[in-house]
Amino acid sequence: MASMRRPLVAGNWKMNGLRADGVARAAALAAKAAAGAAECDIVLCPPATLITEIAAALAPAEGRLMLSGQDCAPAPGGAFTGDISAPMLADAGCKFVIVGHSERRAGHGESDAVVRAKAEAAVTAGLVPIVCVGETDTERDAGRALDVVAAQLAGSLPKAAGSALVVAYEPVWAIGTGRTPTTAEVAEVHAFIRDRLAATPGIAAAAVRVLYGGSVKPDNAARLFAVEGVDGGLVGGASLNINDFWTICLSCGRGRRRDARG
Ligand code: PGA
Repeated sequence: MASMRRPLVAGNWKMNGLRADGVARAAALAAKAAAGAAECDIVLCPPATLITEIAAALAPAEGRLMLSGQDCAPAPGGAFTGDISAPMLADAGCKFVIVGHSERRAGHGESDAVVRAKAEAAVTAGLVPIVCVGETDTERDAGRALDVVAAQLAGSLPKAAGSALVVAYEPVWAIGTGRTPTTAEVAEVHAFIRDRLAATPGIAAAAVRVLYGGSVKPDNAARLFAVEGVDGGLVGGASLNINDFWTICLSCGRGRRRDARG
């Protein structure tokens, strides 16, 4: 049976983009989206400094593109120098926010508890958190990939999110490396995550999209998006090239159509 979930492709620019090139890139994407609809929701995750200006640049795409933060603070406001709160992101035009990206878990020592607090702050502010999970290569080699993902889900999913949740499975060893898991490996983890979501109280599991992330490129996107249980992708490096990113967005429909034909 076809999934009720509309696929979603998110482009995470990470710490890349100044006003000139970032806004031009967003405008180029808006022009493509305005000219031809992709069969997926498309979400851009620019640096926070560009969100407001990009929100204006996306207007020609008439709602076909949405914006996301790359991180948010657990608190809604206050004396937290350098942090950006979920209500601020919502106010700037975001509908989503990434939390628990491996670069924050590893580089900023964010625990599952911190990621959950951020995800809950997002839900409270009316944003949909994109909660990232994924194992390192050492953990996979030790046969612990599913255990690690299970622990991250148990510790970092927001409570009572309902359908306001996206999960991204991003094997750490695939991020920025050009390496991707096999189709079977992706299918195994996605089925596992789906089971865990279904067993988590307060979450409308059937409505939650589970994305794959890690070295998604134009030449592998259709294969990855066609894997059973994959509802789209979280794209890093390739989202900085709008032609590549748009090809990846279009792969969503292509992958699914191919899948449907068997
Ligand atoms: P990548 O990054 O596509 O450059 O591997 C993915 C991510 O970090 O979300």
